[in-house]
Amino acid sequence: MKKKYIVILIIILIVFFAWRFLRPMNIFVVDDRFAWPVDTTQAPAVLGNLSAKECGACHEAFYKEWQTTIHSQAWTDPYFQTDWDFEDRRYVCRLCHTPLDRQQPHKVLGYRDTDKWDPILGDNPNFDSKLQHEGVTCAACHYREGKIVGVLGTTNAPHPVKKLNDPNQVCVRCHVVEGDRWDTFFRFPPCGTVAEIGSSAAQPLSKDTLNVLATLQPLKEDADIFAQMTKSRSALLKGSSGEVAVTNTSSLGCVQCHMPLVNRPLVEGGKVQQTRHHYWRGGHDPDMVKKSLSVKFVERDTNNKNKRRFSLTIANTGASHYVPTGTPDRYLLVRLRALDSAGNVLEEKTEKLIRTVMWRPFIVDLWDTRLPRWQPQTYSIDVDDNGKTVSVEVLVRYHLLGERRRKRINYKNTTPIAYDVFQQKISLAGKLKEAKQ
Ligand code: HEC
Ligand code: HEC
Ligand code: HEC
Ligand code: HEC
Ligand code: HEC
Repeated sequence: MKKKYIVILIIILIVFFAWRFLRPMNIFVVDDRFAWPVDTTQAPAVLGNLSAKECGACHEAFYKEWQTTIHSQAWTDPYFQTDWDFEDRRYVCRLCHTPLDRQQPHKVLGYRDTDKWDPILGDNPNFDSKLQHEGVTCAACHYREGKIVGVLGTTNAPHPVKKLNDPNQVCVRCHVVEGDRWDTFFRFPPCGTVAEIGSSAAQPLSKDTLNVLATLQPLKEDADIFAQMTKSRSALLKGSSGEVAVTNTSSLGCVQCHMPLVNRPLVEGGKVQQTRHHYWRGGHDPDMVKKSLSVKFVERDTNNKNKRRFSLTIANTGASHYVPTGTPDRYLLVRLRALDSAGNVLEEKTEKLIRTVMWRPFIVDLWDTRLPRWQPQTYSIDVDDNGKTVSVEVLVRYHLLGERRRKRINYKNTTPIAYDVFQQKISLAGKLKEAKQ
């Protein structure tokens, strides 16, 4: 009798786990914030078909900048398209990558499931495939309920304007979303958006950390980013934790770092005023990634007489979220190498700075070796002190996605998927051991 129950129990368990492995995986919760396309039925005639070109007829400089951005490619981006195919062309992906109702071939009438992964779709006579190809177009950020939203409160626009108190409100819809599910042991936002911005800011910095940070060299300085980081650091040192709450969007700083200030008119011939660049540089831009990092590569003391130790200290000093952030595909590779006189590698150490997620049978955040802000990490290599090693070098490389993932989804990239952000060589020839720190 007892045996029978055990067998039944085992069968139930097997079926359960088989289901966990085979079921379509909903890796995130479809939050109400992006569950519905942006309703554009009340768009005034002056905005025409809501295309970026239409806005560009008056706001040319903004249009030209936007055209160079990944936002304008959020739909056409071949990496997105390949990934979307791989994910069975889920409808939900459209809600951020092409958020306007007219950009979507169907209307979302409702959802069949509580997770909102199975939308009830209807015909959409207003579907505009040209607009779809504009991805995160001007109206995706600026159009709400018949009006253009902006922070300036202009009164002389030919279109209705609604004043926003804080420009960061615009980014939250797609970039700062969370998810809670019974079967995820952590919150996983779609495309790994930067919700982590809150968790990385919880504690004030210790004196030791501040001392280490002071010795590091920024890879690339940026006055706007520096000001934003200093602002949030002084808030931290005061022990304020208020800045991390997503409800308080003004402290997120997305716009301050990703849309640098520039003086210019809004329309040709208009009044010159303080505006913001529409570039949104991120992981696709080596210079932007460099702005997030400070480093130091030196020889250090070691207790072992026969060895010499070389260390890279690296910190995220230019982004309030983790580096890398965004999709869990992104990672940094730190490679340390000792070379002999012929250039042969005598010793090599590599470290992957990545978020590692177990997807099945349950979604679990296994570990995370990325760089939270202001938390310096040190990676070292020990080399034999026998004269064979003539140089030690370090390479930091940024990966948009890994080679394995690229192959798995069959993404045939035409642009590089990785690039170097930092490289340095210490030559040991003729250098004695005392040149240490
Ligand atoms: C026919 C010309 C015209 C078109 C088309 C147009 N705009 Fe404007 N827009 C203006 C003018 C003029 C102003 C006010 C300029 C000023 O105050 O110097 C303005 C102001 C703005 C502002 C500032 C709002 C604020 O107060 O913060 C934003 C944002 C904006 N437009 C976005 C857009 C977008 C997005 C589109 C397309 C969907 C668009 N505009 C289409 C002429 C136009
Ligand atoms: C309608 C949704 C949406 C909104 C609103 C939005 N974004 Fe994005 N953003 C995206 C998508 C989608 C991508 C990725 C596009 C791709 O690579 O396919 C992206 C990419 C980015 C990138 C990465 C660039 C890179 O090189 O990888 C940055 C930075 C960024 N957004 C900043 C912002 C900021 C700042 C705001 C607020 C002013 C904002 N975004 C508002 C959807 C949005
Ligand atoms: C990813 C979101 C996003 C997209 C896409 C976007 N904007 Fe903006 N735009 C903003 C934000 C945020 C501000 C407010 C910046 C600030 O604080 O001044 C802004 C401000 C403006 C302003 C007012 C001047 C200024 O800088 O404050 C104009 C005009 C404007 N945008 C036009 C456009 C046009 C035209 C397009 C498309 C070609 C466009 N925007 C696309 C987010 C966006
Ligand atoms: C203090 C400056 C700073 C603030 C504040 C900041 N960022 Fe960033 N962000 C950066 C830097 C520098 C990078 C480049 C390093 C990287 O890609 O990890 C970056 C990268 C990104 C990327 C690119 C990720 C990718 O995969 O390519 C996105 C998306 C992004 N930020 C969005 C945001 C959003 C949304 C906010 C607000 C919630 C925000 N950032 C706040 C500085 C900042
Ligand atoms: C909540 C909004 C949202 C939803 C829903 C969403 N994305 Fe994204 N996606 C983003 C944002 C924001 C980024 C930019 C983050 C970054 O740069 O790392 C992005 C970036 C990406 C990228 C990286 C593009 C690049 O050029 O590096 C891919 C690929 C992608 N998304 C695929 C998908 C797929 C497939 C789905 C549906 C399963 C989906 N996304 C659903 C917001 C979303």
